[in-house]
Amino acid sequence: MISLIFWATDVGAPAEASVDTDGSFNHSQTSTAIDVTDLSVRYRRNATAALSGVNLIVRQGETVALIGTNGAGKSTLLRCLVRLIEPAAGSITIGGRPVTGASRRALRNIRQDVGFVFQRFQLIPRLSVFHNVMHGAMGRRGCRCAWPVASPDDVRAEAMASLHRVGLDGLADRRAETLSGGQQQRVAIARMLMQRPRLILADEPVASLDPVSARSVLDLLAAVAAERGVTVVMALHQVPLALEFADRVVGLRDGVLEFDSAAGDCDAAQLQTVYRTTPR
Ligand SMILES: Nc1ncnc2c1ncn2[C@@H]1O[C@H](COP(=O)(O)OP(=O)(O)OP(=O)(O)O)[C@@H](O)[C@H]1O
Ligand SMILES: [Mg+2]
Repeated sequence: MISLIFWATDVGAPAEASVDTDGSFNHSQTSTAIDVTDLSVRYRRNATAALSGVNLIVRQGETVALIGTNGAGKSTLLRCLVRLIEPAAGSITIGGRPVTGASRRALRNIRQDVGFVFQRFQLIPRLSVFHNVMHGAMGRRGCRCAWPVASPDDVRAEAMASLHRVGLDGLADRRAETLSGGQQQRVAIARMLMQRPRLILADEPVASLDPVSARSVLDLLAAVAAERGVTVVMALHQVPLALEFADRVVGLRDGVLEFDSAAGDCDAAQLQTVYRTTPR
């Protein structure tokens, strides 16, 4: 409950945090969810940089959309935030905790607070919807969860509540592979809720969905983020959806951050900087 209040409030406070040696975090002293400074990424030593000198600050509770053409660096940035990809240079903090330079243990702690949503849902196809959702609890801090049937009643009840929250409690016993894409993404969101993340990183969460399902999944993501005061960074290809569902839109092109704008201030000239067909 304390963390829920923290992520929902205190926007505008100084971006300072106290960090324990194991990477756990004093929630009461920061308003900065993500701080990226001069971040560069190279997949191979002499390859072109996938990200070059990216600077980005995301405040707690904010929803930020990353836009840009294929290969612009959106997925690289999302993955690098939790060091699924190692940066070549620069620094990253999440909730005031240093990600770059973090020990294995501190990094594991940080990742426990981060929920991922992927384009392809990444459910276990032959398992039931309920069991897929239960899996989300296994990654969270302090959970007394084991294989779903051996998990405590309160965790099982929470899984049902998560399914109810995404409107799928009637499908708990269905095998995940028998659901539509939109339903599967809702299951993935219910699974992520079980992790109780403070930050959601979503990589093209609606790319494989029809326009109606896409909107309803983004509505759901926005609603659960608002209810829990969670910060969201999502890569989107649909600019109108980015403008509608994000507080801020960040444009990437060839690994360079071209603009960072409040969604309401984002204009055609800015969009042109990332989608133009002529070289920089
Ligand atoms: N595993 C990898 N190995 C080598 N290069 C990679 C790898 N993943 C991505 N890249 C390169 O890094 C750059 C950024 O790719 P990234 O996947 O981050 O772009 P993106 O904006 O997510 O694109 P898309 O919209 O197609 O998902 C591209 O030039 C890409 O070819
Ligand atoms: Mg991508």
